[in-house]
Amino acid sequence: MLPRLFGALVLAATSAVAQNSSASYDYIVVGSGAAGAPLAANLARGGHSVLLLEAGDDQANNPNISTLANFNLATNDEKTRWDFWTKHSEDPERELKYLRMVWRKTDGSFYTGLDPPEGAKQLGIWYPRAGTLGGCAMHNAGVCALPADADWDIIVNKTGDESWSAANMRKYWVKMEKNEDLPKGTPGHGFDGWLSTTIGDTAWASGNSDIRTMAEQLAEATGGNKSDLVDLAKRDMNAPNPERDHDTGVFSLSAHQNKEGMRTGTNTYLKATLADSAKYPLTIQLETLVTKVLFDEKAKEPTAIGVEFLEGKSLYSADPRYDPKVQGKPGRAYAKKEVILSGGAFNTPQILKLSGIGPAAELKEFGIPVVKDLPGVGERVADNYENNLLALAAKPLNGSAGPISVMLQTPTALANKYGRNIYAWCNSFAFEGYWPGYPDDYGAAEYECAFVHMNPKSQAGYVRLRSADPRDTPEINLRFYETGADQDLTEQLDAIKTFRKAFASAPSPINPFNELHPCPGAFHDSETGTGAGAGCTDAEQKEYLKLQAHSHHVTSGCAIGGDDDAMAVLDSKFRVRGVRNLRVVDGSAFPVVPGAFPVCPTMMLGEKAAEDILAGA
Ligand SMILES: Cc1cc2nc3c(=O)[nH]c(=O)nc-3n(C[C@H](O)[C@H](O)[C@H](O)COP(=O)(O)OP(=O)(O)OC[C@H]3O[C@@H](n4cnc5c(N)ncnc54)[C@H](O)[C@@H]3O)c2cc1C
Ligand SMILES: *[C@@H]1O[C@H](CO)[C@@H](O)[C@H](O)[C@H]1NC(C)=O
Ligand SMILES: *[C@@H]1O[C@H](CO)[C@@H](O)[C@H](O)[C@H]1NC(C)=O
Ligand SMILES: *[C@@H]1O[C@H](CO)[C@@H](O)[C@H](O)[C@H]1NC(C)=O
Ligand SMILES: *[C@@H]1O[C@H](CO)[C@@H](O)[C@H](O)[C@H]1NC(C)=O
Ligand SMILES: *[C@@H]1O[C@H](CO)[C@@H](O)[C@H](O)[C@H]1NC(C)=O
Repeated sequence: MLPRLFGALVLAATSAVAQNSSASYDYIVVGSGAAGAPLAANLARGGHSVLLLEAGDDQANNPNISTLANFNLATNDEKTRWDFWTKHSEDPERELKYLRMVWRKTDGSFYTGLDPPEGAKQLGIWYPRAGTLGGCAMHNAGVCALPADADWDIIVNKTGDESWSAANMRKYWVKMEKNEDLPKGTPGHGFDGWLSTTIGDTAWASGNSDIRTMAEQLAEATGGNKSDLVDLAKRDMNAPNPERDHDTGVFSLSAHQNKEGMRTGTNTYLKATLADSAKYPLTIQLETLVTKVLFDEKAKEPTAIGVEFLEGKSLYSADPRYDPKVQGKPGRAYAKKEVILSGGAFNTPQILKLSGIGPAAELKEFGIPVVKDLPGVGERVADNYENNLLALAAKPLNGSAGPISVMLQTPTALANKYGRNIYAWCNSFAFEGYWPGYPDDYGAAEYECAFVHMNPKSQAGYVRLRSADPRDTPEINLRFYETGADQDLTEQLDAIKTFRKAFASAPSPINPFNELHPCPGAFHDSETGTGAGAGCTDAEQKEYLKLQAHSHHVTSGCAIGGDDDAMAVLDSKFRVRGVRNLRVVDGSAFPVVPGAFPVCPTMMLGEKAAEDILAGA
């Protein structure tokens, strides 16, 4: 059993003990994000010694990170930021039509746009991640939405493992949630878990403000009644009613924060586990970049026994403070039972490949000895499409900005086994994707419905090595719209039309709106909305939605799948196929993107994996 003093490593990132290369633990977990944090905590709570290795440091006392409402600052904060430069397609010309393309100017600063200055180097489309204790759950917007039942049931279909049924997965949710709004005992929710959730203040739904007027329009445009707005603003997004996946209209927006507006989840659960008087055997070692998995050279079947790492600050080149001259201090740690990778959808495929697990041809290209040829590693990467309707009202909009969700099931999605296909959040704000320094501010007249298009038809992205250097970032191409493009664009355009109808129905003096995109121009008739969007053909709008789609919910590069699926990387218990004592537990394990927002489903994976492992699976 490890001494208590290991807990102090959370704050003191290095120590003689942590650097002890012969140190050995029951489990090593790599990465402290949405899945890794609850997994490491629960294994330690189950009595096993756990070493949690995290590349970043701890920013829990940084108000950018700790206060959820600061999420835009958090995502831009270089103390947590990992910059990935991605592509959306293999067509360089199409890439150059992305309005927020990012370039590095000759003075080292960024340029974002279509007209870079002389000598600027094209970087790509910015995809921020958080390299910090708690992972992307520390810089995200905190939206906590459970996926459609079919997103879980599909794993049962693929693997035959009934423990993935939506009904069973709900148990993990109930176990981990600490709902701070609903009456205790409300079915389908938890009240004693480690993940505080709240919907925020809904006072904005009563009184007289433009924000409320806009919400009324959205309620009516989606089949509701504006006189029910006070109830709709509290309507439970995650209620377990049987028709849930087809329920549309206005809902509250549930987030992983407590009543005081503080971010809850990964970091807070790890801290609580360390502070517990039960002295759970959890060791957290920060500023440690895992570079590969170690295998038992004598074993007949590949068998993981530990990891190799580099200790030091900002060692991964995605970190804006990265300095190639600063070499990390090499080290190793050993696992008596298992190594578990929870590095997230970009890093876990990279670590596997650096360790010799992945498509053999790609590994050979970089001189990496093949431990296990698994063609699915880093392939079939999936992401939701995101787009938005952004317009400026005829006057500055008053009223405090209340969070509101709007769910749609657009006409062509009616036969969809997933049910609803659009999750929008509408407010006076502007979110148009990510670029360094985002977002733009169009003043108090701005109003937007930003939306996530769920269950995209195309799942053709990849994460491939660029080099065998573990400090290098991989090549990431999300390859949007490879299949089913027209249907997905039709669904998005139908969503735009629904939101536009709501905007256009707002009374004066809010109307006439001036739409910024996807169809720039003034709404023609402020009373009826007739003519709104009339300046563009459907084809033009679809082209815009295709070129400007963005995303930040990447999953699936190490997917769970059936024995008959050559591209499956994991079995239903998260075990890497053909390798002993190695699992992957993070967003890359999902065979499809889980609904609109992956963070809470990914936390559920951490809970499930811990239970499976503790049960001896
Ligand atoms: C800007 C942004 C906003 C988002 N907003 C939302 C939202 O509102 N709602 C929602 O549901 N989802 C949101 N998401 C997505 C969600 O946060 C992620 O899907 C989720 O956090 C993924 O969890 P994970 O465990 O797979 O990986 P992560 O949370 O990324 O955790 C991986 C961890 O591993 C560490 N790591 C990686 N490589 C190594 C290595 N080699 N050695 C050691 N440590 C390593 C990283 O530092 C990180 O801490 C957002 C994502 C982004 C980027
Ligand atoms: C290193 O770990 C080994 C095995 O756990 C232990 O015997 C040894 O005392 C440790 N050394 C230091 C310096 O902590
Ligand atoms: C918060 O983040 C911004 C960048 O988004 C940064 O400029 C600022 O220094 C950060 N604040 C703190 C307290 O670290
Ligand atoms: C699972 O398989 C059944 C039978 O083939 C099918 O009817 C159902 O739609 C599938 N469910 C999912 C979520 O794929
Ligand atoms: C907001 O503006 C509207 C007109 O759009 C006005 O009727 C209302 O009184 C204002 N509300 C507040 C709280 O200022
Ligand atoms: C909306 O609700 C009000 C108040 O309950 C009711 O009078 C009205 O008939 C409802 N409208 C519709 C279209 O159902």
